[in-house]
Amino acid sequence: MEALRTENLSKAFGRVVALKKASVRLEQGEVLGLLGDNGAGKSTLMKILTGFHRPDSGRILLRGQEVHLRSVSHARALGIEPVYQDLALINELNVYRNMFLQREIRSWGPLGILNDSLMRSKAKEHLTAMRVNIPSLDVQISKLSGGQRQAIAVARSVFSDAKILLLDEPTAAMGVKESAIILDLIRRLKDKGEVSIIVVAHNYAQIFDVCDRINLLQNGEISFNSRTSDTSIEELTRLVVDEYRAARERVTNT
Ligand SMILES: Nc1ncnc2c1ncn2[C@@H]1O[C@H](COP(=O)(O)OP(=O)(O)O)[C@@H](O)[C@H]1O
Ligand SMILES: [Mg+2]
Repeated sequence: MEALRTENLSKAFGRVVALKKASVRLEQGEVLGLLGDNGAGKSTLMKILTGFHRPDSGRILLRGQEVHLRSVSHARALGIEPVYQDLALINELNVYRNMFLQREIRSWGPLGILNDSLMRSKAKEHLTAMRVNIPSLDVQISKLSGGQRQAIAVARSVFSDAKILLLDEPTAAMGVKESAIILDLIRRLKDKGEVSIIVVAHNYAQIFDVCDRINLLQNGEISFNSRTSDTSIEELTRLVVDEYRAARERVTNT
């Protein structure tokens, strides 16, 4: 079943055309990897899907139904969740309070006092189920590593019943071990099959490792779409090298 589809999405910022008729398709339970050079339009596409940017033209279909995403909170209400490690978490709060941010459990109704023990035990249950290892649920988020923070941001999105997760370079600036925490989590989510994921990354090996399908964005256009098992790092490298050569020729000819 189809989770999300875009048809001919275009977006320009002034004279810069960031996205040209981008059509992508995400199946239920699938992990789609979005590759592309800096400035290719990856974040623009992701931000349209989160409701942050309005496309100039084109359509978005959620489970076959066209949707007009008015805002990030509207998209979120429809189950589309961007995962931002740094925007989504509050450094001064501990792990379980972050897991329940904006959905705090209170005793005696909505104005009652926070039920810390219940939030703590539910957060623990959920993180254990997702095998996210955190030294303690009581530590401030700021004390954790980048990988751990990102893992909590992902876990929280799933916990909040998101159906589609959008991860824009979740392992950027992370070391190998840190990245492995996130990639592991994505793989586990895929195995459960309840969420569908689009992940933007630079690292081909990581994309090949976790994605079912790969799309390449070049100068705002989806230039390549393949199941991961039907392509190779060599093939993708060749496409990008060709793009680089063409760009270099354009530069030397002007
Ligand atoms: N808010 C914006 N205002 C103006 N130009 C933008 C804006 N966002 C992105 N762009 C431009 O659109 C193009 C695509 O950017 P982006 O989607 O961020 O690429 P990527 O994420 O693939 O690196 C780039 O040329 C970028 O400079
Ligand atoms: Mg980007």
